[in-house]
Amino acid sequence: MFVFSFKEKFLFTLLLFLGLVVFTSCGDNTSKEPSKTDKTENTSGLTAFELENGIGPVKKKLELGPIDPVLVKKGQEIFDSKCAACHKLDERYVGPAQRDIIKRRTPEYIINYMLNPDENLQRHPEAKKLLAEYMTPMPNQNLTIDDAKALLDYFRKVAEEK
Ligand code: HEC
Repeated sequence: MFVFSFKEKFLFTLLLFLGLVVFTSCGDNTSKEPSKTDKTENTSGLTAFELENGIGPVKKKLELGPIDPVLVKKGQEIFDSKCAACHKLDERYVGPAQRDIIKRRTPEYIINYMLNPDENLQRHPEAKKLLAEYMTPMPNQNLTIDDAKALLDYFRKVAEEK
């Protein structure tokens, strides 16, 4: 009779296990290979719209009218009271300088970011980059969508001023 010793059984199981690991990881590789070469959309799990425009309540492109001076004034008041503690227009502070934000990001991104910083910080590659650079997560400022629109017009206005 052919009897395996404990050591042989152990080695056999080990080999079988290693074989399985190699086998499954090879299988994995081949199935993952194509998606690695795909566009970044797929690795971040975001849609193309979200990549360009952030994650939040704005889900399609906005039609922006001319800058509204009433909104600019309201936006400036909100900026001074809720944002200036961390953002200046022309210098890096706790967060990035904001005068040229409208040139760096789409209006939709700015609104989505202001209304939903936490989720963007967790999931959006651009927001993650900023977080790594500034080391401070921007806290949600509990803005309404109207506040966000006023801030947007304020940002559009200050960008024109320089
Ligand atoms: C406690 C500090 C703090 C406050 C208050 C704050 N922010 Fe921020 N903000 C940051 C930091 C830090 C970043 C960059 C890192 C990150 O995104 O967390 C940032 C990023 C941003 C961005 C994204 C910039 C980009 O280039 O993508 C926008 C837009 C923004 N803030 C707008 C505002 C507005 C508007 C307010 C006021 C309603 C405000 N923030 C209040 C700290 C703050």
